[in-house]
Amino acid sequence: MKVLVLHTLPPEAVDERRNAWEFDLGDAARSVAASLPGAVVAGVRGRVEEMLSLLSKNQPDVVFNACEAPMGRPALEAHAAALLEWLGVRFTGSGSETLALCRRKDRVNAVMEAAQVAVPRKNVFPCIVKPAGEDGSVGIFHDSICEDADALRRARARFDVPVVVEEFLTGREFAVSLWGRREPDYASIGETQFQKNLRLNTYAAKWEIESEDFANSPMTYDLELEPDLRESIIAAARGAWRAVEARGYMRVDIRLDSLGTPRVIDVNPNPELSPGVGINRAVIEAGWTWERFVRQQVEWA
Ligand SMILES: Nc1ncnc2c1ncn2[C@@H]1O[C@H](COP(=O)(O)OP(=O)(O)OP(=O)(O)O)[C@@H](O)[C@H]1O
Ligand SMILES: [Mg+2]
Repeated sequence: MKVLVLHTLPPEAVDERRNAWEFDLGDAARSVAASLPGAVVAGVRGRVEEMLSLLSKNQPDVVFNACEAPMGRPALEAHAAALLEWLGVRFTGSGSETLALCRRKDRVNAVMEAAQVAVPRKNVFPCIVKPAGEDGSVGIFHDSICEDADALRRARARFDVPVVVEEFLTGREFAVSLWGRREPDYASIGETQFQKNLRLNTYAAKWEIESEDFANSPMTYDLELEPDLRESIIAAARGAWRAVEARGYMRVDIRLDSLGTPRVIDVNPNPELSPGVGINRAVIEAGWTWERFVRQQVEWA
C-alpha cells in the first residue's frame, strides 16, 4: 500500500501572536513515516495547485493527514480534508465536517449540549473569555478569567473576533486521548498538574518552554483515578467523539466543575502528533507502541 504522509509547513510570514515553528508539522510527519516503511513524506505550504500536483504525482492509496494550517491559516484545516474527500482519496483521522465543526468552540458546544454531553455553563462567574475559532491556547492569558462584569467587559474588549464566554471550571484538568476506527475504543488520560497559582493553560504554558507558566503546568499520566471518576471522564470524552462523529483519533480536554462533574472544554479532532507530547505520549503511556498506533490509523482510514 502506498502511503503519503502529507504535512503542512509554516507560511513565509506568521501572525505576530504566534511562532513559526508552531506551524511546522515536519517532526510529527517524520515520526509517523518512521513507522511506515516505504511511505513518502511531503511538506506543503498548502496552495491548492501544490496539493493537487503532489497527489497526482504520488497516487497514494492512503494519505496520513498531518495538515493543520494550509497557507498558515488554521481556518483552512478542514479544506485539506475536504479536498481529499472530493478527490476520493482515503485519509487518516476525522473528516472535513468534523474538523470544521470543532474549529468553532461556540458551535461544537451547542452540538455537544444537544447530545447531552456536559459543557461549561453560561452566565456564571467566574467565567473565561476565549476566542471561538482559535486553538493552541492563542488568546488565552491569566486575565482571560473574569471574576465580575467589569473584568468581563475588559476581557471582551481585547478581541475583535468572535469569542466564547463560559463558566470557568476550577477543578482538575484532563487531556483524554481516544482512538478507534469509528468508535472511540481506546482511551488514555493525562492530567495537567497546575502548580503555584497557575489556574489554566495559557499560551505561554503551551508553547514557551522557558516560561514560568510552562514550568507550572506539567502533564502526568501517572494517575490513580477513582474508578467512578475515571469512568465519568472517559464517558464525557466518548460522548464528545460521538457528538462530532470523529474518526481515527482525537484529544478531548476536560475539567471538573466545583461538584466534581467532568465537563468538556475543548475538542481536538486533529491533535498534535509530535514525539513525546499529546497523542504520541498518550498512546505510549497506554502501553501501545507508536508503530502500532500509526499502522492502525492507516488501516482505519
Ligand atoms: N471553561 C473553562 N474552564 C476552565 N478552564 C478553561 C476553560 N476553557 C479553557 N480553559 C483553560 O484554557 C486552556 C486553553 O483552552 P482551550 O483548550 O479551550 O483552548 P485551545 O486554544 O483550543 O487549546 P489547545 O488547542 O491548545 O488544546 C485549557 O487547557 C484550560 O486550562
Ligand atoms: Mg485545549
